[in-house]
Amino acid sequence: MPLTDPVLCKRIPTKPWGDPKDRKLITYDEYVRTGGYQALERALDMDPKDIVEEVKAAQLRGRGGAGFPCGVKWSFLPEPDGGRRYLAINCDEAEPGTFKDRLLVDFDPHYVLEGIAIACYACQLDTAYFFIRGEYRHQAKTFERAIKEAYDNGIFGPQGLLRGKVDFAVECYQHRGAGAYICGEETGLLEAIEGKRGWPRIKPPFPAVKGLFGRPTIINNVETLAAVAPIIEKGAKWWNEIGCESSIGGPPSYGTKLMGVSGHVNSPGVFECELGIPLSKLVNDYCDGMRGGKKFKGAIAGGVSMGILGPDQFDAEMDFDIGKKYDVMGLGTACPTIFDEDTDMVAVARNIARFFKNESCGQCTPCREGAQWIYKLIGRIEQGNATSKDLDLLLELGQSMGAMPGTTICGLADGNNWAIRTIVNKYRDEFEARVKPYSVAVNATVGATG
Ligand SMILES: Cc1cc2nc3c(=O)[nH]c(=O)nc-3n(C[C@H](O)[C@H](O)[C@H](O)COP(=O)(O)O)c2cc1C
Ligand code: SF4
Repeated sequence: MPLTDPVLCKRIPTKPWGDPKDRKLITYDEYVRTGGYQALERALDMDPKDIVEEVKAAQLRGRGGAGFPCGVKWSFLPEPDGGRRYLAINCDEAEPGTFKDRLLVDFDPHYVLEGIAIACYACQLDTAYFFIRGEYRHQAKTFERAIKEAYDNGIFGPQGLLRGKVDFAVECYQHRGAGAYICGEETGLLEAIEGKRGWPRIKPPFPAVKGLFGRPTIINNVETLAAVAPIIEKGAKWWNEIGCESSIGGPPSYGTKLMGVSGHVNSPGVFECELGIPLSKLVNDYCDGMRGGKKFKGAIAGGVSMGILGPDQFDAEMDFDIGKKYDVMGLGTACPTIFDEDTDMVAVARNIARFFKNESCGQCTPCREGAQWIYKLIGRIEQGNATSKDLDLLLELGQSMGAMPGTTICGLADGNNWAIRTIVNKYRDEFEARVKPYSVAVNATVGATG
């Protein structure tokens, strides 16, 4: 069942999304009436550096995919030098199967805006750009209205944060994307905000030092920023009591996480769960079980680029250890897509390969050419026109792309690598059943020509 006291979505019906008629956008007045902007009030009584320390102590890990510790990222910023400093909020949410940030924007935009205001004050960032994917037309309208409400009520604007409570002003703008997955990659996002093609940048320099318009910039996911307000309101210690420790001696997975479940379940939706919940529990208790009572066959771990959990990994704990424990890249967005026993995994692989082929920005040869090649090979296998050698080649390609440091600029190539490699390794029998043995295929060709 959902947490009795959900942290992030306390105002969002989470099981499942509920009757659309019952869903309600929280306006500024409603938000304030239910305790909203009190965390900002509290934050503005603190020294900005203490806010960063509190977020560090909470060990809040980024909710956009990489799980990087938020407070640590904030502390990479240089000292203010009087010039502009930016916050870029990543609401691109183009990872297939991921639809969690949309819920926050749809129903509780001021929760996100409060996190933005606190982050800007903590890091002394004077300008916030909310980058929202092009397809989120409705959400963009909702968020634009919420920004206007925040301005009208003195949260942002030249008078200083929270109606001039502090002498530090923040301007907040929304920037709509044009619908490319690569603009979710943090430096592709910066390029897009600058009005250019969303081509990822080579790092270093890192954005904290040289980001938007060449100035210090922090890039955070929507959900990460939404978590900042409750941490400041209730304290890092409280946050550390939710979630779980690492079972393999790694960093902990504290707090709750929005988990959007799609695929072959009875009640798909977005749920707020404590990190560490087993996938099987998420499916059975929150999503009313597998659709039609069918057997679990596998799941996209948390966005397609994380790879696939196999048939024997239904009980995988949804926390930041998942990558090391279950041979996937990581927790990613924690939005799994569930497959039942009838799923054709070769077709799933072809669909994933098509996505990466279409979304590669084309700057790096291994990613641009490799993605095309992988797609062609899987298509050949699916149609029964491939040999066992093609399968070996597919695995070789899948294993090498993005793996060699310095050959690709961003993580899209690794995503393609993990997705293809894990699906072929974990369902190899299905791929093998579709290919002809190499020697037979060669003999048949020789026979035909000779
Ligand atoms: C190809 C690609 C696409 C990405 N798409 C998103 C996205 O849609 N939303 C997001 O928050 N992060 C996305 N990321 C991760 C961002 O680069 C970045 O790590 C994240 O926004 C940082 O925020 P966080 O630390 O709060 O998680 C993507 C990364 C890659 C490589
Ligand atoms: S790895 Fe792929 S998506 Fe990323 S910059 Fe290179 S070509 Fe573009």
